[in-house]
Amino acid sequence: MTVVAAAPHALAARWEERVMRAAHPLAYPLLKASRKPVRRVPGLGVLVTDAAMLRATLLNTASFTKTGPGSPADLWTPVLGPSVLLNMEGPDHATLRRRLGPLFAPSYVDGLVAESLAPALGALARSLQDDEQVDIVDEVRRYASIAISRLVGLGESVVDDELFRRVSSITAMVRLSRPRLSPTQIIAAKRVMDDLGVHAQAAYRGGDENTVPGRMRAFGLTESEAMGAVGAFVLTGTETLVSYIPRLVCLLIDSGWLPMIAADRALVEPAIAESLRVTTPSPVMLRSVVADDAIGPVRVRPGDRVILATFEANRSLGPFDPAANTAAVLKQLWFGAGSHFCLGAPLAMAQIRLVLETLLDAAPDSRIVTRRAARGVLIPGYSTVVLQRP
Ligand code: HEM
Repeated sequence: MTVVAAAPHALAARWEERVMRAAHPLAYPLLKASRKPVRRVPGLGVLVTDAAMLRATLLNTASFTKTGPGSPADLWTPVLGPSVLLNMEGPDHATLRRRLGPLFAPSYVDGLVAESLAPALGALARSLQDDEQVDIVDEVRRYASIAISRLVGLGESVVDDELFRRVSSITAMVRLSRPRLSPTQIIAAKRVMDDLGVHAQAAYRGGDENTVPGRMRAFGLTESEAMGAVGAFVLTGTETLVSYIPRLVCLLIDSGWLPMIAADRALVEPAIAESLRVTTPSPVMLRSVVADDAIGPVRVRPGDRVILATFEANRSLGPFDPAANTAAVLKQLWFGAGSHFCLGAPLAMAQIRLVLETLLDAAPDSRIVTRRAARGVLIPGYSTVVLQRP
């Protein structure tokens, strides 16, 4: 196979920069400017921007946890309750993951995604082939909602644009400089979660083991714990994809790779991996220190907060280039590592592959008519990306 590599494209890099800055105008330049792989940032915590140190920290659960001060538990437990994986550690966390695992296995989600998205993707292909304008952000929002609704036992009409807006309004409350939500923010966030819970109750009470609430019930968790998990999965399972897939499409068009990948499908997987590396949709992970330890040369103490700037560790390896596929060395660090590695990765990958294949088949010559970077959001992304064939 001969691959003609596109020149690393300045346009792609410029738009990626704009997307990050629009979401985090203060934190992004600060984290990016770090000259050392690990250092203390007064008022924020210990900042890590090196991939190897970052992975070692994620794997060291004896010293670094998601449940101490300044960790994700501090942020999310008041809203979602105590049993939603991303705020758990130890045997309870491992057991709940094992119970939910089959629902997220590729063998299960590949079929679920293909079947549930087939009508919507068919319509997307027809619109593109008919030279209509398509907002890929709106499209992906709908697809991600359909897929996650199935898994958590919500009707498709429940996870609509309005709900997505309300969920985003919760995550938008989170800033790096704010380790906890305020009491008013917690009340507002719980109201959204309660509304979701009302709809997910049927799945719990019916005990349908093909849904997250049904499995949690069989596992012995209470209804309110299962409702928290529904909230957590809607929270994690929609925004990341609505951020990433339009960024993938823009990267491929801006860099000129889209038609080349359409012509050589062996490049699809490297292109996805490379774009996950340079976009890193979940740009930062947080940990709380629970035992004296060190990250590289920096000593850490219990109570310290660790900011793992994955986006910087991943990007610093070089520009987007599916032919070079630098991403291969990172072992999918964009999905985390160790015990908290993204449970939804197979669900995400199934959707990413299907949307990309649809675009490659229907409109590999697509152009971007207009786009806007989203402002004031936690997960950087576009608020609109309108595509059309020339
Ligand atoms: C491109 C899309 C996605 C990216 C980049 C992503 C990234 C991540 C990362 C980095 C983590 C680890 C966080 C940490 O260790 O602190 C994580 C955890 C998690 N993700 Fe994803 N994610 C994506 C899509 C999804 C989807 C679609 C779901 C579906 C529900 C999902 C559910 C979860 C859950 C439940 C966890 C917590 C796992 C645990 O703590 O044991 N993610 N994700």
